[in-house]
Amino acid sequence: MKLLDPYRLGTLDLPNRVVMAPMTRNRAYDTIPNELQARYYRQRATAGLIITEATQVDPMGQGYPNTPGIHTKAQVEGWRQVTRAVHEAQGRIFAQLWHVGRISHPSFHDGALPVAPSGIRPEGKGWTADGRQEPFVTPRALETDEVAGVVEQFRHGAACARAAGFNGVEIHAANGYLLDQFLESSTNRREDHYGGSLENRARLLVEVVEAVTDVWDSRRVGVRLSPGGTFNDMYDDDVRETFGYVARTLNEFDLAYLHVIEKELAGGHKASALVREAYEGTLIVAGGFDREKGQAALDADRADLVAYARYFISNPDLPARFALDAPLADWDTDTFYGGGAEGYVDYPTLEEERPSLAA
Ligand SMILES: Cc1cc2nc3c(=O)[nH]c(=O)nc-3n(C[C@H](O)[C@H](O)[C@H](O)COP(=O)(O)O)c2cc1C
Repeated sequence: MKLLDPYRLGTLDLPNRVVMAPMTRNRAYDTIPNELQARYYRQRATAGLIITEATQVDPMGQGYPNTPGIHTKAQVEGWRQVTRAVHEAQGRIFAQLWHVGRISHPSFHDGALPVAPSGIRPEGKGWTADGRQEPFVTPRALETDEVAGVVEQFRHGAACARAAGFNGVEIHAANGYLLDQFLESSTNRREDHYGGSLENRARLLVEVVEAVTDVWDSRRVGVRLSPGGTFNDMYDDDVRETFGYVARTLNEFDLAYLHVIEKELAGGHKASALVREAYEGTLIVAGGFDREKGQAALDADRADLVAYARYFISNPDLPARFALDAPLADWDTDTFYGGGAEGYVDYPTLEEERPSLAA
C-alpha cells in the first residue's frame, strides 16, 4: 500500500491516500464562505479527500472570529461555490461539523455564556468576537433537556452540508470542543445520563452520530477523535478505557472512517494503535507526518490513510510533490489565522515554482 495508491472509502473512490486535514483559517467573513475559500480548496483538490476547516452547526458553536457556519441559507450558498469549485477540479470534500462548547466567549453570543457539559473553566485565553484574547470564562452547564437541541443542531448542519453539495461530513469530536468535553472525565462532571459512566459520557456523540447518519448514508460520515490530547486544557483519567470504548461503540455504525490525531500515550502506546485495536473500519491518522513517516504508517498498518495539515497549507499540490519526491515548501505561521489571500491562496505549485522539477 502506497500513499499514492487509490482507496475505496465507504462509497467513494479516492485517487490516493493523502488526505487534507481540517484547518481553521478564519477567513470566512461574517461566517459565510466566499470566493477565497473556493479558490483555496480548489487549489488542493488533488488530495484523496479534503476535510474542510471546522464549521459551526449553530451560532452557540462558534468561538473564533470569521469561522464559517453551516446553518443558514447564506452559508449554504457560500459553501456551494466551494463544493462546485472542488468538484470541477475532480476533488472530493467533506465538511467538518463543529460545536466549540466552552471554548468560546460571551462576545459571540450577545453576552450569554458559552455552554458545556459542566461549569468548568478552561485554563488559558480564548478569542473574543472582535479578535482580542481574553481569559476563558466559566461556561454554563447545559440542562438535560437542552442536550437534544444540540443533537438537532448537528442534524441540521448535516442536512445543510448535503444541500451545499458536500460528499460527506466529519463530526468533530476532537481537540477539546463540545463533543470531546462530554467524552472526557475532566470536563464532564454531569450527574444525569450524559455523565458518569463511559456509556453516559459517550451518549451525546452516539446521538449525534445517529442523527447525522439519519441525514447521510453512514458511509459518508466520519468522526475525528484526539485520545490523550491536551489542547484546550483537556485531560481524561483513563484515555485507553475511554477511547477504546468510543472506538468499539462506533463499530456499530458502518461509518466512512475514524480520524485520529496521533499522540504518544503513557506507557509508550500510540493513540492510533489504541483506536486501531478497537475499531474495525477505515482509520485516518494525522499529526506530524511527512512523506516518509506517512508511508511508514501505512507500511506498519497503523492506518489506511494519512492526513496532512500544515504541509497542505504551503503545498497545494502535495500528492504531486510526494509522487516526485520533490522538495516541500515551508509554511508561514503568521498567516495561518485570519487575513486575506496572503499565505492562503498564493502558495505556488511545483509546476508554477520550479517547472523543470515538475516536468
Ligand atoms: C492552522 C491550523 C488550523 C487547524 N484547525 C483545525 C480544525 O479546524 N479542526 C481540526 O480538527 N483540527 C485542526 N487543526 C489540527 C490539524 O488538523 C492537524 O491535526 C494538526 O495540524 C497536525 O497535523 P500536521 O502535523 O500535518 O500539521 C488545525 C491545525 C492548524 C495548523
